[in-house]
Amino acid sequence: MTTTTTELLLYLLCLLSSLHRSLSASGQVAFESVPDLEKSMYKVIDGYPCVRLLNLSGEIGCANPGLDKVVAPIVKFKNDIELTQSSSLLVASYDFESFLSRVSSDSKFARNVAGVLVESGAQNQTHLKGSSPDKKFPQVEFSPYQNSKFEWNPTGSGIMWGLYDFPVFLLSESSTQSLQEVAVKNENKDTYAAEVTEFDLVMQTTKAGTHDSESCLRERTCLPLGGYSVWSALPTVNISSSSSKNRKPIILAVASMDSASFFRDKSLGAESPLSGMISLLAAVDALSRIEGLDTLSKQLVFVVFTGEAWGYLGSRRFLLELDQHTDAVNGINNTLIETVIELGSVGKGYDQGVKTFYAHTAGVSSATNKTLSAIQKARDSLGTESIKYSTASESNPGIPPSSFMSFLRQNPLTPGVVLEDFDTSFTNKFYHSHLDDLSNINSSAIAAAASLVARTLYVLASNNNDLSDSSLKSIKVNTSLVEELVGCLLSCEPGLSCELVNRYISPSSACPSHYVGVIQGDPSEPYYGYVNDVPRFVWNFMADMTSTNGGPCSENCSSQTGGVCVKKEIDGKGVCAISTTRYVPAYSTRLKYESESWTVLPSDPADPVWTESNWNTISLRVYSVQGAAYDHLVLVAGVSVTALAYLLIVVIKAFIAKALKQD
Ligand SMILES: *[C@@H]1O[C@H](CO)[C@@H](O)[C@H](O)[C@H]1NC(C)=O
Ligand SMILES: *[C@@H]1O[C@H](CO)[C@@H](O)[C@H](O)[C@H]1NC(C)=O
Ligand SMILES: *[C@@H]1O[C@H](CO)[C@@H](O)[C@H](O)[C@H]1NC(C)=O
Ligand SMILES: *[C@@H]1O[C@H](CO)[C@@H](O)[C@H](O)[C@H]1NC(C)=O
Ligand SMILES: *[C@@H]1O[C@H](CO)[C@@H](O)[C@H](O)[C@H]1NC(C)=O
Ligand SMILES: *[C@@H]1O[C@H](CO)[C@@H](O)[C@H](O)[C@H]1NC(C)=O
Ligand SMILES: *[C@@H]1O[C@H](CO)[C@@H](O)[C@H](O)[C@H]1NC(C)=O
Ligand SMILES: *[C@@H]1O[C@H](CO)[C@@H](O)[C@H](O)[C@H]1NC(C)=O
Repeated sequence: MTTTTTELLLYLLCLLSSLHRSLSASGQVAFESVPDLEKSMYKVIDGYPCVRLLNLSGEIGCANPGLDKVVAPIVKFKNDIELTQSSSLLVASYDFESFLSRVSSDSKFARNVAGVLVESGAQNQTHLKGSSPDKKFPQVEFSPYQNSKFEWNPTGSGIMWGLYDFPVFLLSESSTQSLQEVAVKNENKDTYAAEVTEFDLVMQTTKAGTHDSESCLRERTCLPLGGYSVWSALPTVNISSSSSKNRKPIILAVASMDSASFFRDKSLGAESPLSGMISLLAAVDALSRIEGLDTLSKQLVFVVFTGEAWGYLGSRRFLLELDQHTDAVNGINNTLIETVIELGSVGKGYDQGVKTFYAHTAGVSSATNKTLSAIQKARDSLGTESIKYSTASESNPGIPPSSFMSFLRQNPLTPGVVLEDFDTSFTNKFYHSHLDDLSNINSSAIAAAASLVARTLYVLASNNNDLSDSSLKSIKVNTSLVEELVGCLLSCEPGLSCELVNRYISPSSACPSHYVGVIQGDPSEPYYGYVNDVPRFVWNFMADMTSTNGGPCSENCSSQTGGVCVKKEIDGKGVCAISTTRYVPAYSTRLKYESESWTVLPSDPADPVWTESNWNTISLRVYSVQGAAYDHLVLVAGVSVTALAYLLIVVIKAFIAKALKQD
């Protein structure tokens, strides 16, 4: 008895498994879990969202209007399109600006916009005339001069600073293609099904009804924009020998590491400002390899700021920390800063093989004159006609948008020079656009700028008029290092997984993004998990380049002994580099972190105090739903089948009754 039951069970099992196998073999999908089932029904689309940011007086960016996901059928946007129902629009990259202007002028149209998907790829028209979502004079409120109408950024539309009550995503190239197919399918009216997009871009500030930075910080529905800038001294400063007597005058060389764009995580900023930062890193490498740095009469200090795209957060906070003599800037005495050299956008300074750079200055002074003649001397020492240098046009109202503006706001007489590849307006046609990528720059221009700056810094620091040409000529920029940095920091292939970056840090993702991010935790104690990949790389790179020697970190390695522990992420142990390299927090000068929360201080009216709304998840997916007409059809069919079945039963009953009677 039991054996037969077991046999029967075994037989059933075999039958089931063979059935399963035949199903899988015949190419049908075998669902093993609910997520599997979901995957086949819902197509998750990779895209880059535009998010909600707040300042002291209002909001910018995008979010779902309510507290729920938004679902709407996909329609391809054309200039004269009329919308009869709430729709999610697929917009070509070159149509995006005209789409947004239609939204702001046509309220009937705007009411039916449920969400927006911006295509990427095939940007021929955009590439011809350029496009920048920033203003024509970016961050004009920080300008040290009055002429606010000057157009540094002629292609600027300002759309980045608008407020949009619908979700907007930039599609990746592969998802662009699949959504174009979906849109075509929807135009075809024969089918009863419609493909819809579901946007989940619900922001906590919307949920809590906090519409400015002060209230959202109080309710903890947002975090301040910010991060960590990095500075490093060459040669190393001995901080413990704190006698200020033997301190040398300081030459400050600065650049920025963050960019911005309409779409949060697609802010590569290859030309502006990453080309300048890569140039600075290459110059640090070149200078670190020369002999006799200790004998120079000036101290070189390099700073890479972050948060500059959002009200020059990094440079303004750096100057405040200098004023307050905090630990983060111990080693720099601000009264000793003799001149500032800023590397701006330098990656497009080439034209038929000739690289041309322009020095922008604010007024004339003997220190500025000295810097300009140092640049001239550096250029002459390069002994090539393919690198040119000139001072910027007298007709400019002043310096272009740059971190140097923060220095001038603090002290209008600060001597300094901003080196750029343009004279009267940006050569970058994609300033703060997601299109400012690798194709927008030329690494040979970056290397040329690095050579020019490295030699200029050496001329200034040696302060020696009969400087021998041989020592100057020994400063050579490593062009393969420039190429490597370009590949690591400005593309996803190899991106941050390149050998150079992996020598120092374990990056959180391969694709670099140069959006500043939000500041988490206590800003005065940078916990490395809260420092972004790029600042961590810059910190390790600079410490390694400027260090004199290094042993293992297990022995005393701290600022007291003049050491920093580099490459610690790689093997957990690290190397103790004797170097003066520090993180400096970068966040609004109007914010204060106290007992785990942020408060807004009453000062500096120009500081906007940018914050980013919190969210739980951001997602975008596509699926198909049956149209209402199809539902009606199903209902009618169902009713008819029921009626027919009833009739049939009646007929059969009668028939059987008849048959039984006949028996
Ligand atoms: C891009 O250029 C090609 C030919 O160069 C043209 O056929 C195509 O229509 C253009 N695409 C757009 C979107 O303008
Ligand atoms: C720094 O200076 C102090 C006192 O002048 C000296 O004892 C120490 O060895 C120096 N440190 C380094 C790393 O040179
Ligand atoms: C900075 O340098 C000036 C001039 O050398 C000196 O008077 C001042 O005490 C220094 N400040 C600090 C904090 O060392
Ligand atoms: C970059 O400039 C060099 C000359 O300086 C030129 O040979 C090269 O083709 C340029 N590369 C790109 C991608 O334009
Ligand atoms: C700076 O140089 C310019 C021209 O080279 C000269 O006219 C001016 O007097 C100089 N200014 C100072 C303060 O040395
Ligand atoms: C130049 O940089 C490359 C890539 O980082 C490196 O392999 C090479 O050793 C460097 N050359 C010199 C002379 O430092
Ligand atoms: C580390 O520093 C402490 C106190 O400053 C000292 O007692 C100890 O010997 C040092 N250790 C090493 C390995 O240098
Ligand atoms: C906040 O942003 C809005 C939109 O860009 C702008 O109009 C406003 O002036 C900003 N407020 C401050 C305090 O900067």
